[in-house]
Amino acid sequence: MAHLRVIPKSEASAPRSMIEIRNLAKTYRTRGGDVPSLRPINLDITEGEFVAVVGPSGCGKSTLLKLVAGLIPATEGEVQIGGVAVKDPPDDVGIVFQSPVLLPWRSVLRNVMLPVEVRKLDRETHLARARKLLSMAGLEDFQNKYPWQLSGGMQQRTAICRALVHDPKIVLMDEPFGALDAMTRERMNLELQRIHHETGKTILLITHSIPEAVFLADRVVVMSERPGTIAAIYEVTLPRPRDLEIMGHPTFVDLTQKIRAHFYARGHLD
Ligand SMILES: Nc1ncnc2c1ncn2[C@@H]1O[C@H](COP(=O)(O)OP(=O)(O)O)[C@@H](O)[C@H]1O
Ligand SMILES: [Mg+2]
Repeated sequence: MAHLRVIPKSEASAPRSMIEIRNLAKTYRTRGGDVPSLRPINLDITEGEFVAVVGPSGCGKSTLLKLVAGLIPATEGEVQIGGVAVKDPPDDVGIVFQSPVLLPWRSVLRNVMLPVEVRKLDRETHLARARKLLSMAGLEDFQNKYPWQLSGGMQQRTAICRALVHDPKIVLMDEPFGALDAMTRERMNLELQRIHHETGKTILLITHSIPEAVFLADRVVVMSERPGTIAAIYEVTLPRPRDLEIMGHPTFVDLTQKIRAHFYARGHLD
């Protein structure tokens, strides 16, 4: 029995690391020369955590997200998801890009079903899930329409449904609401918060909106100029669920000001 170890309570209940980023760096090798885009980054994201990343334009935010998603190879270091080194896009990840990148020849529903087909998952159960997500996103009457028949906001909501259809544990989002008007964006923020609260997914969100980052995240990672690295990490201790009024809370105002101060001297955010 000596080999049986009793796990101390504190350790048993400690949050598990979901995404481990270790000395991760990227230099794009182009014909015009090397483009250093990310200096070594170290970051642990725990299961169920919501992390937002802000930083100046071109500092390597999208590069970071693509590395975590296994879409491009790292120059140095690695990303582990659930303890396994990421080489290709993992099944348990959903991605939302800045532009919705829907396939124009597929209906809304068939666009949402794409990850299910790619992963060869059960069609019937996921079809029901796709329909439920679309109706949650206010798109139930548009399932059989084509992307060009939708507004930009509706297309982006379709892309979000597509990222969630296979119920991934991790959702990576690269400025998903950048193209939306302010009202739609606020609604999407509330919706995203609800999804995070109800499903406990681990979310990594890149955004150029500091208030959006503070409103949604457990931690806000601030990146420095290209080649970017982590300049600071802010913990957001505001209680959840948060409503839009929280933006007037002294802690909220203080945090957004502190984060903004990183960029005062050097121009604006992406
Ligand atoms: N495929 C690529 N080849 C060469 N350089 C790239 C490539 N993708 C991005 N870069 C460069 O890497 C830097 C970081 O880009 P990116 O990660 O898109 O920044 P951000 O998302 O923060 O705006 C930029 O200078 C960009 O021009
Ligand atoms: Mg980008």
